Amino acid sequence: MKKLIYHWLIVASLVFSHQMTIAQAAPLIVKLNEPGAVIQPTMWGIFFEDINFAADGGLYAELIKNRSFEFAEPLMGWDIKRKQESDGNVLIINRGTAFNANPRFARITVTTDNSEFGLTNEGFRGIGIKKDSQYNFSMQVKMEEGASQQLLIRLLNEKGEVIGNGNLLVSGNTWKTYSTSLRATATAAKGSFRIEFKQKGITDIDMVSLFPQDTWKNRPAGLRKDLVQLLADMKPGFVRFPGGCIVEGRDLNNRYQWKKTTGDADQRQLIINRWNTEFKNRSAPDYFQSFGLGFYEYFLLSEDIGAEPLPILNCGMACQFNTAEVVPVDELDPYIQDALDLIEFANGTTGTRWGKFRAEMGHPAPFNLKMMGVGNEQWGPQYAERYKIFAQAIHEKYPAVKLVSSVGPFASGALFNYLDPVMRELKADLLDEHYYMPPEFFLKNVNRYNKYDRNSSKIFAGEYAAHIRGTEGVKRNTWQAALAEAAFMTGLERNADVVFMSSYAPLFAHVDAWQWAPDLIWFDNLNSYGTPSYYVQKLFSINKGTQVVPLLQNNTTIEGQDSLYATACMDKNSNELILKIVNTSSVYRPQEISFEGVKRPNKKAILTVLKSGDLNQVNSLNNPANIAPRPEVIDISGKKINLHIPPYSLTVLRLKML
Ligand code: AHR
Repeated sequence: MKKLIYHWLIVASLVFSHQMTIAQAAPLIVKLNEPGAVIQPTMWGIFFEDINFAADGGLYAELIKNRSFEFAEPLMGWDIKRKQESDGNVLIINRGTAFNANPRFARITVTTDNSEFGLTNEGFRGIGIKKDSQYNFSMQVKMEEGASQQLLIRLLNEKGEVIGNGNLLVSGNTWKTYSTSLRATATAAKGSFRIEFKQKGITDIDMVSLFPQDTWKNRPAGLRKDLVQLLADMKPGFVRFPGGCIVEGRDLNNRYQWKKTTGDADQRQLIINRWNTEFKNRSAPDYFQSFGLGFYEYFLLSEDIGAEPLPILNCGMACQFNTAEVVPVDELDPYIQDALDLIEFANGTTGTRWGKFRAEMGHPAPFNLKMMGVGNEQWGPQYAERYKIFAQAIHEKYPAVKLVSSVGPFASGALFNYLDPVMRELKADLLDEHYYMPPEFFLKNVNRYNKYDRNSSKIFAGEYAAHIRGTEGVKRNTWQAALAEAAFMTGLERNADVVFMSSYAPLFAHVDAWQWAPDLIWFDNLNSYGTPSYYVQKLFSINKGTQVVPLLQNNTTIEGQDSLYATACMDKNSNELILKIVNTSSVYRPQEISFEGVKRPNKKAILTVLKSGDLNQVNSLNNPANIAPRPEVIDISGKKINLHIPPYSLTVLRLKML
């Protein structure tokens, strides 16, 4: 009985602590007349890597998996439908090195008229089909001289029932692209797609493609609209792409080569995605890179959402966790040439070779590239040696382009301790620090950058996330993780003279095809949602400000005293003060905040709160806004304000100064 009473006392104290308020602490003072560090427009950005089916099966809206039969198993993703074996067959023909980018095609031989011989594609863990939406089908076809073929194009639901139909008559003995559009009569989250060949004959097919018509900006063969919208809503300062480890590759052969990802889609050479095999418990044998989303599309995406592009290039080193292959330093030239050519591709006039290529792809105006990354998570003297050669060549030709360099895969320990001073000695522009750590790390390290040299290389906190292992061993995007990240980000902002850029990682994950968790945005074939971490990133980014201003309590910065973390900045464009306050405790905090050095604040302010009383809460496809910001307009009288800061919350206040 005693035990039971004790148990109930504990439960009651936990329940009531959520409504508890602690005594009023000393006021927070904002010193508006003492502006500090300038906040870079690139302060809060995003990092896109093709992991977790983020590109094919994700952002790139192509619905057909293995559309060009170039996967290691050429019919992976495809299923042959026939009544009996003798109805027909599929032969994969390889044209060899003369067609290096797309050597294979499928030869369909149908032996009877009115056959039901068909090829079904399963999509990326199914095909998401929306009722009343239009789908664009296209396919390259070649027939024998004088022959023709009647094709039936079908959208199917989970039961294999037809929910969309199209017809095509194809003929001609040279490769030609045929297209048609289909309307879906029903919704299917895990539908499929089929082509049926109605007549006897031989038909060669390649680049079988199906896109929703409703893509981002309605671009044909474009990007998934809901996913880009989530990114655009963040107003990120930059987009780092395309990785991550996929830049490095498991070996050098598997590295990311930007030139092979541009031009016509059928000229982009498919390779295996390194995340296909990386984690044995999350292996994805069907994970390849079609590069339909390639460097041109990354630049366009960055431009669309008003973010600076930050491409990362291979520096002659494969992933050191895998093969650790390196190119001898005297054979680095092609790698360096790729970097120089990329700058010309992005910025060159249409009179240059690569500027002309960009214009031919549809973008005569330059993309205005200002920075580039040399390698990802590389370590050791072999990196410094190669970086030096890259930096010299790039800075000689393009002195204005800033370089992001590696300081290894971890932001502490032997690899970091070796490389960090070496890169500073080399006067590296931006050091790319990565930390995937428990929430406690983020709380303890809120002052990490207070101690950094103000006159040395600047910091790009390029990959970070709070990791908590859940009950089934899966790391989840809980509110606890997001709150710790928010607290840490107040420290990034306060150190804006050192930290020029930052981004959470990874960005995207398909709920049925992920390799790495947690991730910022999750999606299935039809829907998507932002995690609590997404809303933290978004709130910081859309409330960026241009200059830090001191925010003090008892004359010191607020870095976790009584579980409070806070920062303040001004947005000189709108003349608004922006406060960000994180309460990691389980109690309400009455808090007076007063404004010094200002004549008159506005009488209204916008107060946005992101909170949950339960640190284990998450968002989900079924409950995407479980934890989401709630903005309200509040009254301000005079030069102070009294806030009642909720437990476990991030509060953002925007107040115009008159
Ligand atoms: O974000 C996932 C991976 O983490 C990145 O590819 C790599 O840079 C880091 O190790």
